[in-house]
Amino acid sequence: MTFCLKNARHLDAPVDLLVRDGRIVTMTPAGHHAAPDGCPVVDAAGLLLMPSFTDAHVHLREPGFEYKEDIASGLEAAARGGFGSVMCMANTRPVNDNAGITRAMLDRARETHPHGPRLCPIAAATVGLKGEAMAPLGELRDAGCVAVSNDGRPMPGTELLRRVMEYAADLGLIFIDHCEDATLAPGWVMNEGVVSGELGVKGQPPVGEAMQVARDIMLAEYLNLPVHIAHVSCALAVDVLRWGKARGVQVTAETCPHYLWLDDTALRGYNTAAKVSPPLRTPADREALRRALGDGTIDILSTDHAPHAQHEKEQPLDAAPCGFTGLDLAVSLTWGLVRDNVINEADMRRLWGAAPARIFNLPCNNFEPGDPADFFLFDPAEDWVVSRDTLYSKSINTPFLGQTLHGRVKHHWIGGVQLF
Ligand code: DOR
Repeated sequence: MTFCLKNARHLDAPVDLLVRDGRIVTMTPAGHHAAPDGCPVVDAAGLLLMPSFTDAHVHLREPGFEYKEDIASGLEAAARGGFGSVMCMANTRPVNDNAGITRAMLDRARETHPHGPRLCPIAAATVGLKGEAMAPLGELRDAGCVAVSNDGRPMPGTELLRRVMEYAADLGLIFIDHCEDATLAPGWVMNEGVVSGELGVKGQPPVGEAMQVARDIMLAEYLNLPVHIAHVSCALAVDVLRWGKARGVQVTAETCPHYLWLDDTALRGYNTAAKVSPPLRTPADREALRRALGDGTIDILSTDHAPHAQHEKEQPLDAAPCGFTGLDLAVSLTWGLVRDNVINEADMRRLWGAAPARIFNLPCNNFEPGDPADFFLFDPAEDWVVSRDTLYSKSINTPFLGQTLHGRVKHHWIGGVQLF
């Protein structure tokens, strides 16, 4: 199957793209070559051409919590959001701590979305995510897991953390750490600061996150191994990362669009829609994270897509679960950062595209001949309102509900197959 995409905008230049048998043949300046005789043509004038992105941190809830999300609805939200690969965390029920669960997840993904997006499971670091015994990482890798993490359950002991990092590295997998000191503020509801004081609820100070980032960096340096820090939320952790990187430690880090747009004032009124882990911090933290994107201290973006049902989020603030959905709106939120000159379009492609693919060794389209024909067209001129009608995830627990976003994914191809 051959087709030609014409007049798309690629980093400010109009281009034509020729695709054959699921691979890129050429990308040339628009009008440079005539389309081959009889070749179907898609006119992409006015639309931006982007490589399919990788989301390195999602929760798809299947098996076990299908009332929040399942693999079919999660992959649909990913496809609509411009993601060609999604790395899903192990906090399912049962936990993804053995090859049988990984294989069942992958079978389900192939059944519901045979052409993609690709599901890339992340192995539980410990059995049941309990932080006691290491999970069988070798069989999890062989079954298809692409990384290792104890997800939102911080590793309780440093020796176990060290062994997991060593075993994961031997297997060619990176350990992803949710950095939280679970003993510092048990029962926290939000960031510790002025707003938690105003509301009279228990806060979690950012120092716990930063301390664990420092621990991981020191351990990674001592062992000469890589480590990836999940969802960085505060300025202090950014400072620690900067220090680690300056020492040449193999540390990479992600943050999520919500930490770049929101702060803890969103919790006012006991707003459960703004409750997430790690919590939204202060406006100063948000600004520090924005700077860290531009200077490379933060390597990638991820959504931490965490669906929860409406009845769960409608509980009091201390009882409501943490988490936001994000797969179907992350690219539009990121485009907002480009519009506001926080990052540029090339940064956006790197943060969601080339960088996560490089860190986690996943396929990536660089629009070079032979690359997988994984790409989407983005309309920078479309304004849309975040609502039940415009989202594809089963749950809509996003704090951006009701907001108008600028720019939207319009069409998506994976392996040369048009998904919509
Ligand atoms: O807010 C969050 N929700 N953070 C996590 O680390 C886990 C996630 C979930 O699974 O709901």
